[in-house]
Amino acid sequence: MSASPALTVAVALDQARAAGLDRVDRDVLMGALLGRDRAWLLIHDDHPLSPAQAARWSDWCARRAAGVPVAYLTGQHEFHGLLLQVTPDVLDPRPDTETLVDWALERLAALGGAAPTVFDLGTGSGAIALAIQHRHPKARVGAVDRSAAALAVARANGERLGLDIDWRQGSWFEPMTGLRVDLIVSNPPYIRPDDPHLADLRHEPREALVADEDGLADLRTLIAGAPAHLRPGGWLLLEHGHDQADAVAAIFEAAGWHEIGHRLDLGGHRRCTGARRP
Ligand SMILES: C[S@@+](CC[C@H](N)C(=O)[O-])C[C@H]1O[C@@H](n2cnc3c(N)ncnc32)[C@H](O)[C@@H]1O
Repeated sequence: MSASPALTVAVALDQARAAGLDRVDRDVLMGALLGRDRAWLLIHDDHPLSPAQAARWSDWCARRAAGVPVAYLTGQHEFHGLLLQVTPDVLDPRPDTETLVDWALERLAALGGAAPTVFDLGTGSGAIALAIQHRHPKARVGAVDRSAAALAVARANGERLGLDIDWRQGSWFEPMTGLRVDLIVSNPPYIRPDDPHLADLRHEPREALVADEDGLADLRTLIAGAPAHLRPGGWLLLEHGHDQADAVAAIFEAAGWHEIGHRLDLGGHRRCTGARRP
Protein backbone atom coordinates (compact mmCIF):
# COMPACT_ATOMS: atom_id res chain seq x y z
CA MET A 1 0.00 0.00 0.00
CA SER A 2 1.40 3.42 -0.88
CA ALA A 3 1.60 6.17 1.76
CA SER A 4 -0.97 8.95 1.42
CA PRO A 5 0.43 12.06 -0.30
CA ALA A 6 1.78 14.79 1.99
CA LEU A 7 -0.49 17.74 2.69
CA THR A 8 0.72 20.81 0.79
CA VAL A 9 0.54 24.40 2.01
CA ALA A 10 -2.25 25.15 -0.50
CA VAL A 11 -4.39 22.18 0.51
CA ALA A 12 -3.85 22.86 4.22
CA LEU A 13 -4.93 26.49 3.74
CA ASP A 14 -8.03 25.32 1.86
CA GLN A 15 -8.89 22.99 4.75
CA ALA A 16 -8.58 25.90 7.17
CA ARG A 17 -10.89 28.03 5.03
CA ALA A 18 -13.42 25.21 4.99
CA ALA A 19 -13.17 25.07 8.82
CA GLY A 20 -14.20 28.75 8.91
CA LEU A 21 -10.83 30.43 9.60
CA ASP A 22 -10.47 33.87 8.07
CA ARG A 23 -7.67 34.83 5.69
CA VAL A 24 -5.50 36.70 8.19
CA ASP A 25 -5.69 33.89 10.75
CA ARG A 26 -4.84 31.25 8.12
CA ASP A 27 -1.79 33.18 6.94
CA VAL A 28 -0.53 33.99 10.44
CA LEU A 29 -0.94 30.39 11.61
CA MET A 30 0.73 28.89 8.50
CA GLY A 31 3.57 31.41 8.78
CA ALA A 32 4.10 30.41 12.42
CA LEU A 33 3.82 26.70 11.63
CA LEU A 34 6.56 26.86 8.99
CA GLY A 35 8.53 29.84 10.31
CA ARG A 36 8.04 31.65 6.97
CA ASP A 37 6.55 34.96 5.88
CA ARG A 38 3.52 35.47 3.65
CA ALA A 39 5.59 36.12 0.49
CA TRP A 40 7.32 32.73 0.93
CA LEU A 41 3.98 30.97 1.45
CA LEU A 42 2.57 32.49 -1.78
CA ILE A 43 5.52 31.23 -3.84
CA HIS A 44 5.76 27.82 -2.14
CA ASP A 45 2.11 26.77 -1.92
CA ASP A 46 3.09 23.26 -3.12
CA HIS A 47 5.50 22.83 -0.17
CA PRO A 48 4.67 19.59 1.70
CA LEU A 49 3.98 19.65 5.46
CA SER A 50 5.74 17.02 7.54
CA PRO A 51 3.43 14.58 9.39
CA ALA A 52 4.11 16.49 12.65
CA GLN A 53 3.28 19.81 11.00
CA ALA A 54 0.11 18.37 9.45
CA ALA A 55 -1.02 17.10 12.87
CA ARG A 56 -0.31 20.45 14.51
CA TRP A 57 -2.16 22.23 11.66
CA SER A 58 -5.26 20.15 12.15
CA ASP A 59 -5.14 20.77 15.94
CA TRP A 60 -4.67 24.54 15.46
CA CYS A 61 -7.53 24.76 12.96
CA ALA A 62 -9.91 22.94 15.30
CA ARG A 63 -8.94 25.10 18.30
CA ARG A 64 -9.07 28.36 16.33
CA ALA A 65 -12.53 27.38 15.00
CA ALA A 66 -13.52 26.88 18.68
CA GLY A 67 -12.52 30.49 19.44
CA VAL A 68 -8.99 30.08 20.87
CA PRO A 69 -7.03 33.29 20.07
CA VAL A 70 -4.37 32.87 17.38
CA ALA A 71 -1.76 34.20 19.83
CA TYR A 72 -2.44 31.33 22.27
CA LEU A 73 -1.79 28.84 19.44
CA THR A 74 1.39 30.43 18.11
CA GLY A 75 2.48 31.66 21.58
CA GLN A 76 3.29 35.11 20.28
CA HIS A 77 1.75 38.39 19.14
CA GLU A 78 3.25 41.54 17.68
CA PHE A 79 2.37 44.69 19.61
CA HIS A 80 3.64 48.16 18.74
CA GLY A 81 6.55 46.63 16.82
CA LEU A 82 7.57 44.19 19.59
CA LEU A 83 7.14 40.43 19.33
CA LEU A 84 5.62 39.37 22.68
CA GLN A 85 5.23 35.86 24.07
CA VAL A 86 1.59 35.32 24.99
CA THR A 87 0.03 32.50 27.04
CA PRO A 88 -3.53 31.85 28.28
CA ASP A 89 -2.47 33.52 31.59
CA VAL A 90 -2.55 36.92 29.90
CA LEU A 91 -4.91 38.91 27.70
CA ASP A 92 -3.94 38.70 24.04
CA PRO A 93 -2.81 42.32 23.47
CA ARG A 94 -5.14 44.18 21.08
CA PRO A 95 -4.12 46.55 18.25
CA ASP A 96 -6.53 49.16 19.72
CA THR A 97 -4.32 49.36 22.82
CA GLU A 98 -1.52 50.78 20.65
CA THR A 99 -3.60 54.00 20.76
CA LEU A 100 -2.94 54.22 24.52
CA VAL A 101 0.79 53.68 23.98
CA ASP A 102 0.89 56.41 21.31
CA TRP A 103 -0.88 58.82 23.66
CA ALA A 104 1.53 57.96 26.49
CA LEU A 105 4.50 58.63 24.18
CA GLU A 106 2.96 62.00 23.21
CA ARG A 107 2.59 62.94 26.88
CA LEU A 108 6.19 61.88 27.62
CA ALA A 109 7.45 63.98 24.70
CA ALA A 110 5.44 66.96 26.04
CA LEU A 111 6.92 66.47 29.52
CA GLY A 112 10.38 66.82 28.03
CA GLY A 113 12.03 65.68 31.28
CA ALA A 114 15.34 63.83 31.28
CA ALA A 115 14.00 60.58 32.73
CA PRO A 116 10.22 60.64 33.18
CA THR A 117 8.66 57.98 35.37
CA VAL A 118 5.75 55.87 34.15
CA PHE A 119 3.64 53.06 35.65
CA ASP A 120 1.45 50.62 33.70
CA LEU A 121 -1.28 49.20 35.96
CA GLY A 122 -2.69 45.79 34.97
CA THR A 123 0.20 45.03 32.66
CA GLY A 124 -0.78 41.48 31.55
CA SER A 125 1.81 40.41 28.96
CA GLY A 126 3.70 43.65 29.70
CA ALA A 127 2.62 45.02 26.31
CA ILE A 128 2.08 48.68 27.26
CA ALA A 129 5.03 49.01 29.64
CA LEU A 130 7.42 47.30 27.21
CA ALA A 131 6.28 49.35 24.21
CA ILE A 132 6.74 52.60 26.15
CA GLN A 133 10.19 51.57 27.40
CA HIS A 134 11.19 50.49 23.89
CA ARG A 135 10.10 53.77 22.27
CA HIS A 136 11.24 56.03 25.10
CA PRO A 137 14.44 54.42 26.45
CA LYS A 138 15.08 57.32 28.86
CA ALA A 139 11.82 56.69 30.73
CA ARG A 140 11.89 54.69 33.94
CA VAL A 141 8.97 52.32 33.58
CA GLY A 142 7.25 50.22 36.25
CA ALA A 143 4.36 47.79 35.84
CA VAL A 144 1.86 46.16 38.20
CA ASP A 145 -0.41 43.14 37.92
CA ARG A 146 -2.37 41.27 40.55
CA SER A 147 -1.80 37.97 38.75
CA ALA A 148 1.55 36.31 39.52
CA ALA A 149 1.16 34.14 36.41
CA ALA A 150 0.65 37.18 34.19
CA LEU A 151 3.58 38.97 35.75
CA ALA A 152 5.82 35.94 35.04
CA VAL A 153 4.90 36.20 31.34
CA ALA A 154 5.54 39.97 31.37
CA ARG A 155 8.89 39.57 33.13
CA ALA A 156 10.01 36.91 30.63
CA ASN A 157 9.04 39.24 27.76
CA GLY A 158 11.11 42.01 29.32
CA GLU A 159 14.14 39.75 29.71
CA ARG A 160 13.89 38.41 26.17
CA LEU A 161 13.55 41.89 24.69
CA GLY A 162 16.29 43.34 26.91
CA LEU A 163 13.91 45.96 28.35
CA ASP A 164 14.35 46.76 32.02
CA ILE A 165 10.97 47.23 33.76
CA ASP A 166 10.29 47.48 37.50
CA TRP A 167 7.74 44.62 37.76
CA ARG A 168 5.56 44.63 40.89
CA GLN A 169 2.82 42.25 41.99
CA GLY A 170 -0.31 43.49 43.78
CA SER A 171 -3.64 45.21 43.38
CA TRP A 172 -3.59 48.55 41.52
CA PHE A 173 -1.76 51.16 43.69
CA GLU A 174 -0.83 48.75 46.51
CA PRO A 175 2.67 48.06 45.09
CA MET A 176 3.18 51.82 44.49
CA THR A 177 3.12 52.79 48.16
CA GLY A 178 5.18 55.96 48.69
CA LEU A 179 5.77 56.39 44.96
CA ARG A 180 4.80 59.35 42.72
CA VAL A 181 5.33 59.25 38.97
CA ASP A 182 4.81 61.51 35.95
CA LEU A 183 2.42 59.28 34.06
CA ILE A 184 0.10 56.36 34.88
CA VAL A 185 -1.41 54.29 32.07
CA SER A 186 -3.85 51.42 32.34
CA ASN A 187 -5.97 49.12 30.24
CA PRO A 188 -8.01 47.63 33.11
CA PRO A 189 -10.89 45.16 33.00
CA TYR A 190 -13.94 47.09 31.74
CA ILE A 191 -16.47 44.62 30.35
CA ARG A 192 -19.85 44.37 32.10
CA PRO A 193 -20.41 40.94 33.73
CA ASP A 194 -23.57 40.49 31.60
CA ASP A 195 -22.04 41.56 28.28
CA PRO A 196 -23.04 38.99 25.62
CA HIS A 197 -19.64 39.39 23.87
CA LEU A 198 -17.97 37.65 26.84
CA ALA A 199 -18.92 34.29 25.30
CA ASP A 200 -16.50 35.03 22.42
CA LEU A 201 -13.72 35.78 24.92
CA ARG A 202 -14.10 32.62 27.01
CA HIS A 203 -10.51 31.48 26.39
CA GLU A 204 -8.97 34.61 27.93
CA PRO A 205 -8.67 35.15 31.73
CA ARG A 206 -12.00 36.49 33.04
CA GLU A 207 -10.24 38.58 35.72
CA ALA A 208 -8.47 40.46 32.90
CA LEU A 209 -11.76 41.36 31.24
CA VAL A 210 -14.68 41.81 33.60
CA ALA A 211 -15.44 44.60 36.08
CA ASP A 212 -18.50 45.29 38.25
CA GLU A 213 -20.62 48.45 38.19
CA ASP A 214 -21.35 48.24 34.44
CA GLY A 215 -17.67 47.60 33.79
CA LEU A 216 -16.63 50.86 35.48
CA ALA A 217 -15.50 49.62 38.93
CA ASP A 218 -11.76 49.36 38.17
CA LEU A 219 -11.77 52.57 36.09
CA ARG A 220 -13.30 54.36 39.14
CA THR A 221 -10.67 52.86 41.48
CA LEU A 222 -7.87 54.03 39.18
CA ILE A 223 -9.23 57.59 38.86
CA ALA A 224 -9.78 57.82 42.63
CA GLY A 225 -6.33 56.48 43.56
CA ALA A 226 -4.08 58.04 40.92
CA PRO A 227 -3.72 61.58 42.36
CA ALA A 228 -1.84 60.24 45.38
CA HIS A 229 0.69 58.59 43.02
CA LEU A 230 1.15 61.32 40.42
CA ARG A 231 3.53 64.26 40.63
CA PRO A 232 2.03 67.75 40.15
CA GLY A 233 1.10 68.05 36.45
CA GLY A 234 1.07 64.24 36.06
CA TRP A 235 -1.37 62.46 33.77
CA LEU A 236 -3.58 59.36 33.98
CA LEU A 237 -4.44 57.73 30.62
CA LEU A 238 -7.05 54.95 30.53
CA GLU A 239 -8.37 52.53 27.94
CA HIS A 240 -12.06 51.61 28.26
CA GLY A 241 -14.99 50.22 26.27
CA HIS A 242 -16.04 51.89 23.02
CA ASP A 243 -19.23 53.19 24.71
CA GLN A 244 -17.74 54.24 28.07
CA ALA A 245 -15.98 57.51 27.09
CA ASP A 246 -18.70 59.82 28.47
CA ALA A 247 -19.03 57.85 31.70
CA VAL A 248 -15.25 57.86 32.28
CA ALA A 249 -14.98 61.58 31.45
CA ALA A 250 -17.78 62.26 33.98
CA ILE A 251 -15.86 60.36 36.69
CA PHE A 252 -12.71 62.42 35.95
CA GLU A 253 -14.75 65.61 35.95
CA ALA A 254 -16.51 64.88 39.24
CA ALA A 255 -13.09 64.31 40.84
CA GLY A 256 -11.82 67.69 39.59
CA TRP A 257 -9.27 66.52 36.97
CA HIS A 258 -8.05 68.97 34.28
CA GLU A 259 -7.71 68.84 30.46
CA ILE A 260 -9.91 65.77 30.11
CA GLY A 261 -9.48 64.36 26.60
CA HIS A 262 -10.00 61.28 24.44
CA ARG A 263 -8.22 59.25 21.80
CA LEU A 264 -9.85 57.18 19.05
CA ASP A 265 -9.24 53.49 18.40
CA LEU A 266 -8.75 51.96 14.94
CA GLY A 267 -12.52 51.78 14.49
CA GLY A 268 -12.93 55.52 15.23
CA HIS A 269 -14.42 55.00 18.73
CA ARG A 270 -13.36 57.12 21.73
CA ARG A 271 -11.45 54.22 23.31
CA CYS A 272 -9.14 56.13 25.69
CA THR A 273 -9.81 58.93 28.16
CA GLY A 274 -7.17 60.78 30.15
CA ALA A 275 -6.62 63.87 32.22
CA ARG A 276 -4.14 65.91 34.26
CA ARG A 277 -4.01 65.48 38.01
CA PRO A 278 -6.35 67.67 40.05
C1 LIG B 1 -7.53 44.12 30.07
S1 LIG B 1 -6.13 43.31 30.77
C2 LIG B 1 -4.85 44.32 30.09
C3 LIG B 1 -3.54 43.61 29.89
C4 LIG B 1 -2.47 44.46 29.14
N1 LIG B 1 -2.23 45.70 29.83
C5 LIG B 1 -2.92 44.74 27.72
O1 LIG B 1 -3.30 45.88 27.43
O2 LIG B 1 -2.89 43.83 26.89
C6 LIG B 1 -6.24 43.82 32.45
C7 LIG B 1 -5.12 43.35 33.37
O3 LIG B 1 -5.39 43.87 34.68
C8 LIG B 1 -5.02 42.91 35.65
N2 LIG B 1 -5.81 43.19 36.86
C9 LIG B 1 -7.12 42.95 37.12
N3 LIG B 1 -7.45 43.39 38.35
C10 LIG B 1 -6.32 43.93 38.88
C11 LIG B 1 -6.01 44.55 40.11
N4 LIG B 1 -6.94 44.71 41.07
N5 LIG B 1 -4.76 45.00 40.31
C12 LIG B 1 -3.79 44.85 39.36
N6 LIG B 1 -4.03 44.26 38.17
C13 LIG B 1 -5.27 43.81 37.93
C14 LIG B 1 -5.38 41.57 34.99
O4 LIG B 1 -4.65 40.53 35.60
C15 LIG B 1 -4.98 41.85 33.54
O5 LIG B 1 -3.65 41.48 33.30
